[in-house]
Amino acid sequence: MHLQEIKLINFRNYEALRLEFPSRFNVLVGLNGGGKTNLLDAIYYLSGTRSFQSNADSQNIRYGTDFFSIRGKFVMKDAVHEILCQVQAERKKVFQEDGIDYDRLSDHIGKYPVVLISPADIDLVKESSEARRRFFDQMISVVDHTYLENLMVYQHALKQRNALLKLIAERGFGDETLLESYNMQLAERGNLIYIRRRAFTEEYLPYFNQCYRHLAGVEENARLTYRSYLHETTFSEGLAGSYRKDLALERTTFGVHRDDFHFEFAHGDLKKLGSQGQQKSFLVAIKLAQVEIIRKYDGFSPILLLDDIFDKLDDERIERLVSSVTRNNQGQLFITDARPERTRALLKALAVEAQLFRVEQGKINVW
Ligand SMILES: Nc1ncnc2c1ncn2[C@@H]1O[C@H](COP(=O)(O)OP(=O)(O)OP(=O)(O)O)[C@@H](O)[C@H]1O
Ligand SMILES: [Mg+2]
Repeated sequence: MHLQEIKLINFRNYEALRLEFPSRFNVLVGLNGGGKTNLLDAIYYLSGTRSFQSNADSQNIRYGTDFFSIRGKFVMKDAVHEILCQVQAERKKVFQEDGIDYDRLSDHIGKYPVVLISPADIDLVKESSEARRRFFDQMISVVDHTYLENLMVYQHALKQRNALLKLIAERGFGDETLLESYNMQLAERGNLIYIRRRAFTEEYLPYFNQCYRHLAGVEENARLTYRSYLHETTFSEGLAGSYRKDLALERTTFGVHRDDFHFEFAHGDLKKLGSQGQQKSFLVAIKLAQVEIIRKYDGFSPILLLDDIFDKLDDERIERLVSSVTRNNQGQLFITDARPERTRALLKALAVEAQLFRVEQGKINVW
């Protein structure tokens, strides 16, 4: 699977752009603010139906205009599929595959998988458990649609239960049958989510360990652990046991929405003790293992987007990273760099044939 062509209209700083990607390796070079990351975001959009930079679709409309569109042609098993995403202020987002609207955007997730490595990944180390859960949820959803369904039902039930708790706390009484039905939905879907997360982590770990050891150039494994209250108790028991607390806090305090994934490297807690480069290596390994998992499930490699990966990594790690994504990885690759000489020298040293693009203020030319 690869992206053959992309066309942008009014997407971020691109007024109108059409680009073809005949080569598997694509390098986008240019000064800060030129539009390198924005182009990766457009590719990400076509895969994930949303931006990785902003939550609101409208923020991606070029300043002073009122719509944007992204069109991409993906080649999949010798057939070409055209994906269109169009956002207009005050209108529903249009998202189509071969001219046909999706009933639900989530039906598109996982069809044309993309893995992004970007400076924002550091949030996975620095931020709360929510960021890590979201990442693992996304990763599992891409390869397992049932998981995504379960997650959506769970989140909906959770919202409703929290609203009901608020009501009960305010009034001193409430609809217990309704509460019971929310409890059942949470327990049923929550259990499935827990089982899937646990199995997935087990399956994922060997890939992660391999990627980490290779990238960091170390013998020892890093540790990535799935943490859940459900390791110790059943869902129904946990929910019943926390009912009083839930009423007092007016929200559900037990469940898979409280799970976490814990990161440790050789010397302990990655967040507290890891250097910036060590944290980055861990994060890059997390993503490279995601590539492997997708390949295992789908039988083909996802498109890999590497945004500013050279930052914080030492030369040895950079070389191991680039050599592993160009040699072992069968998929298409997009790399951004503000310093063309560096990328050129590296690709030359590794004997990699790549297409270079020069990105300047919303315009892109073949080098
Ligand atoms: N909605 C928008 N309309 C117009 N321009 C926008 C919009 N959103 C972002 N931009 C502009 O896009 C430019 C940033 O582009 P981008 O982040 O892709 O640059 P870059 O080449 O990745 O730079 P760097 O090397 O610093 O990472 C900024 O100048 C920003 O103001
Ligand atoms: Mg950038």
